[in-house]
Amino acid sequence: MITKNLQDAFNEQINKELYSEYLYLSMATWFDAENLPGFASFFKIQVQEERFHAMKIYDFVNERGGRVILEKINKPQINFKSALAIFEMAYKHEQFISKSINELMDVSIEENDHATKSFLNWFIDEQVEEEASMDAIVGKLKMLGGNGHGLLMIDNELGTRVFTPPTN
Ligand code: FEO
Repeated sequence: MITKNLQDAFNEQINKELYSEYLYLSMATWFDAENLPGFASFFKIQVQEERFHAMKIYDFVNERGGRVILEKINKPQINFKSALAIFEMAYKHEQFISKSINELMDVSIEENDHATKSFLNWFIDEQVEEEASMDAIVGKLKMLGGNGHGLLMIDNELGTRVFTPPTN
C-alpha cells in the first residue's frame, strides 16, 4: 500500500504525463499546418509514449491500493516560432519531467518504499532516453541553420519513427 503522500505525488505525475501528451499533440498540429508530416508523425508517436507513461503510473497506483484522481489538464501552447524552438521547448520539458521523477524517487526513499523505488527505476532510465532523443534533434536542427532542404531531410527521417510499446 502506498502512503497518501505518495498517492498524491503520483496523481500529480499522471497529470504531468497527460499534459505532456497534450503539449506534444499541439506541437504535431503545428507541424501538420506547416506541411511537415514527418515531424508531425514524430510528435504523434511521442503522444502515445506519454499516454503509456501515464497509464503505467495509473496501473501502479491501483496495484498498490491507491486511488487515481484525475485533475484538469492545462491548455498547451498553440503557436510556435520554428521547428528548432519546438524541440528546444520539448527538451526543456523533458528535463522538467526528469526532475519531477527524481523528486518522486526522493519521496519513496524517505518513506523506505522499496517497491516504489523499483518501479521508478524504469522511469529514471526512460527519462535519459526522452531527454537524449529531443536533444539529438535540437543538435541536428542547429546544424542546419534554417536550411530548407535539410529540414525536409529530417522530416523524412522522423517520419520513419514507429511506436513500440515497452514490454516491461
Ligand atoms: Fe513521460 Fe516524455 O516523459
